[in-house]
Amino acid sequence: MNPAVVEALRNCRHLLVFTGAGVSAESGVPTFRDALTGLWARFDPARLATPEAFSADPELVWGWYEWRRQRVLRAMPNLAHRTIAELARRVPRLTLVTQNVDDLHERAGSQDVIHLHGSLQASRCFECGRAHEGLSDELDEPQEGRRLAPPRCVHCGAAVRPGVVWFGESLPQAALQRAFDAAGECDLLLSVGTSGLVYPAAQVPQIAARSGACVVHVNPQPEAVGGAREYSLAGAAGTLLPQLLRAAFGD
Ligand code: OAD
Repeated sequence: MNPAVVEALRNCRHLLVFTGAGVSAESGVPTFRDALTGLWARFDPARLATPEAFSADPELVWGWYEWRRQRVLRAMPNLAHRTIAELARRVPRLTLVTQNVDDLHERAGSQDVIHLHGSLQASRCFECGRAHEGLSDELDEPQEGRRLAPPRCVHCGAAVRPGVVWFGESLPQAALQRAFDAAGECDLLLSVGTSGLVYPAAQVPQIAARSGACVVHVNPQPEAVGGAREYSLAGAAGTLLPQLLRAAFGD
């Protein structure tokens, strides 16, 4: 374990943890692109994850998201999620910002998670925008490639849509602002399991680096690091994060 990273964690006052699909990979949750396998492989993400796609074929899009939601309901938080929840008890302040639409951080015990790309659980009306409360938490056999009629809004009768950010849509403004504010204030940012390619979320570590924070990437794909206070830890989050916690704070 890099001693500079251990030292930065031990001394930090405000830790920002920024996560992407890789943090849930060891829980068996397919990433956005991996999710288009098997019977879904013949679909282009741009055909499924847009408001236009939902308008044109709600059963196709709702069926795909229900399949993903059922996969997440069956998944369990892994050591990376649990270590991030534990870190909140070890540092004076922790802000957790995720690009993921699953709820595995919450189920691992993290509180006040900032979801930049929405949530599979938070569906709402496609027309009037009001929240839809009726999604069942009961496990249903996920059926790949199955079309499914979306529920109807109890207020206006229009179709209910998944509460995620689709291509061409804006991110939730309040969540994005909180993430940017925390990036400007933190002294250490751990970027875990993200390719850092999708904007504006990818600005979060960039703002932290510009504001003088130490930035550490945790990813099996080593990151090309540029800044003097930027480090890459190459490996799986479920292995490296517990090692880092132990090195900084003991058991
Ligand atoms: P990506 O699928 O682009 O990247 C996942 C990253 O996780 C890759 O860099 C992998 O190398 C890494 N990874 C894989 N296994 C890992 C492990 N065990 N530990 C640590 N890292 C691991 O996912 P995101 O960066 O989250 O947006 O993608 C960002 C956004 O692109 C998503 O939120 C989604 C998508 O389009 C929307 O839906 C709006």
